[in-house]
Amino acid sequence: MADSIRKVVFPVAGLGTRFLPATKASPKEMLPVVDRPLIQYAVEEAVAAGADTLVFITGRTKRAIEDHFDKAYELEVELEAKGKQRMLDLVRNTVPDGVNCIYIRQGEALGLGHAVACARPVVGNEPFGVILADDLIDGGSDPVLLQMARQYQAHQCSILGVERVPKQETDKYGVVSSSEFGPRLSKLSGIVEKPDPEQAPSDLAVVGRYILTPAIFDLLEATRPDQRGEIQLTDAIAALLDQEQILAHEFEGHRYDCGSKLGYLKATLEYGLRHPELGTEFAAYLRQRSSD
Ligand code: UTP
Repeated sequence: MADSIRKVVFPVAGLGTRFLPATKASPKEMLPVVDRPLIQYAVEEAVAAGADTLVFITGRTKRAIEDHFDKAYELEVELEAKGKQRMLDLVRNTVPDGVNCIYIRQGEALGLGHAVACARPVVGNEPFGVILADDLIDGGSDPVLLQMARQYQAHQCSILGVERVPKQETDKYGVVSSSEFGPRLSKLSGIVEKPDPEQAPSDLAVVGRYILTPAIFDLLEATRPDQRGEIQLTDAIAALLDQEQILAHEFEGHRYDCGSKLGYLKATLEYGLRHPELGTEFAAYLRQRSSD
């Protein structure tokens, strides 16, 4: 099996109903945190983990994402003419040279599992990463997908990014049962989607980072839609567990749930405070505001 993760899938075809009307004509992954859209943070994390092929599973609002990672001729010409080199670099460097972007349309939002299955023709028979850009994770100098890619290299099996969550919130996540396997690492024995807190097997929740072996694709094809008509990635992972070892990696870093308005505001605040150009002034504003 391949040793490194070259391909990363970004499912960006969800309806984003929690952010309407902002997401009426543009995917929630294009919401900016300070000055970069969520999807750009995700792409930077994938590239830092060694990816050279980025597979976007897009929906009805796909244009904005394609355009963001494409050349912007008119804008570039204008910035060049005005001698705005720094801005030109920002516009040009949304994807590094040598990294390919591929767009696949998910015709209908039939669930995260269905979105991942759409990547099969491009991913083929290789292990691959999945990043949900609305889970913005600040891993500091060690991006989370890179942490997981190292675990993959060591153990050659699927790796799920997990985090301990308050017990009363288990019904928002896929939750795993597992036994200790190493530092920040446990071996899965089960996984359930959105369990009631009383029935949750643990407080270890799967967040938006996965490294999956290609065996997942046959299992996704065999997965039946749930009561809401969605094909759940969690169900296919549960089936994969019958065939292969799966490990859960408790990542180092801080996650902001930018799929929720409160999480998004927290991320904006934190990334604003540490922004190289704005941080000091923003902190002063907040101090002044809290003393008023
Ligand atoms: P969510 O469960 O957050 O759903 O999807 P959503 O539709 O994006 O947002 P809300 O709940 O209506 O506000 C988790 C991830 O899976 C993707 C989403 O884009 C998001 O990154 N997804 C979900 C798809 O790509 N396709 C789908 O059919 C469903």
